[in-house]
Amino acid sequence: MRQYQNIKQEIDAQIEEVLLSGKFVQGPKLAAFEEQAKAYFGCEYAIGVGNGTDALWLSLMALGVGPGDEVITHANTFFATVEAIWIAGATAVLVDCDPQTKCIDPAAAEAAVTDKTKAIMPVHLYGQCADMPAIKAIAKKHDLFVIEDNAQGIDGAGDSFKQGELSDTVCTSFIIQKNLGCFGDGGMVFTDNPDVDAKIRKFRNHGSAERDHHSAGFNSRLDDIQAGVLSAKVKHISAWTDQRIAISKIYNAGLADCTAFELPYHKAGFRHVFHLYVVETKTAEKRAELLQFLQDNGVDAKTHYSIAIHNQDGFPWGKPFRLAGSLENAEKNAATCVSLPMFPELQPEEIQYMIEKVCEWDALQK
Ligand SMILES: Cc1ncc(COP(=O)(O)O)c(C=O)c1O
Repeated sequence: MRQYQNIKQEIDAQIEEVLLSGKFVQGPKLAAFEEQAKAYFGCEYAIGVGNGTDALWLSLMALGVGPGDEVITHANTFFATVEAIWIAGATAVLVDCDPQTKCIDPAAAEAAVTDKTKAIMPVHLYGQCADMPAIKAIAKKHDLFVIEDNAQGIDGAGDSFKQGELSDTVCTSFIIQKNLGCFGDGGMVFTDNPDVDAKIRKFRNHGSAERDHHSAGFNSRLDDIQAGVLSAKVKHISAWTDQRIAISKIYNAGLADCTAFELPYHKAGFRHVFHLYVVETKTAEKRAELLQFLQDNGVDAKTHYSIAIHNQDGFPWGKPFRLAGSLENAEKNAATCVSLPMFPELQPEEIQYMIEKVCEWDALQK
């Protein structure tokens, strides 16, 4: 764990303080991290919760979105986005992604609006900030909530806006592999709405804001050890994001002459924090070949995600979503995506080795 080794003293000090305080749940470390996160990410309220999925569905609950309501999102996101809508009791409406950014296609989202639509849930997929001004304009026109799934996009923004400025809540995940990850599960809701803040604070703690007084609620708390780890780490997020962006540029330059796949697209004016560096092959068969070639050569390449949500088959009771319009881009994304290793601590010689191997495969295609 290179990241831990680099800042071991800072993290160990935080964990030790929690152990010595004896306050593990809803203690001072959680409160301190919430204050720090508010200041860092620039919003009025930051509420630590159990994980990113909970951040999403607790946002829906707090905004009063539930059974009978529809929430629009896109079909090539991670499963948890849709799971959260389903847990809240609403129906997910799956639309296509933009063919370049892989984030929600605003025109497809607007075409899917019905009388039942209550919210749009854009996802900053792979770290590419979604087209929030376009989403906000649709939301304003049709009186909808906007909930940002920011599990992959923390530290992102647009040139003319920051995340949260054009939405009701921003929901993030701190699971270890995220750009800001703790040592287990964790999540956070950012909002400027005091009512949403108060509701989620109660929901996360068995519906209790005052000892012995409860209303309907759940158990979804960010514990103090994880909050301490995040307090140590959040100070480094900017440097880590810069490092991810720098690595993406090295990949781009090294792979520029390859012709058997497309490089990731970065939409001008919308920051890409490169949670993932995803290339797209021309066909599904070629994707399988590239993956195999890389794995045979010791490169930990993966797919995010090879089965679009609507093609998952784990819904014995019937699919909890509605499809709206063509999902052609989402299906192509699922069939052809390959994620190359991406994390801030990658060493120059490792990046060069991966570039070399990908170029070697590309040359075999000519
Ligand atoms: C886009 C997206 N949404 C939601 C989640 C859910 O986060 P968690 O696993 O912390 O529940 C994740 C990651 O796991 C994700 O990548």
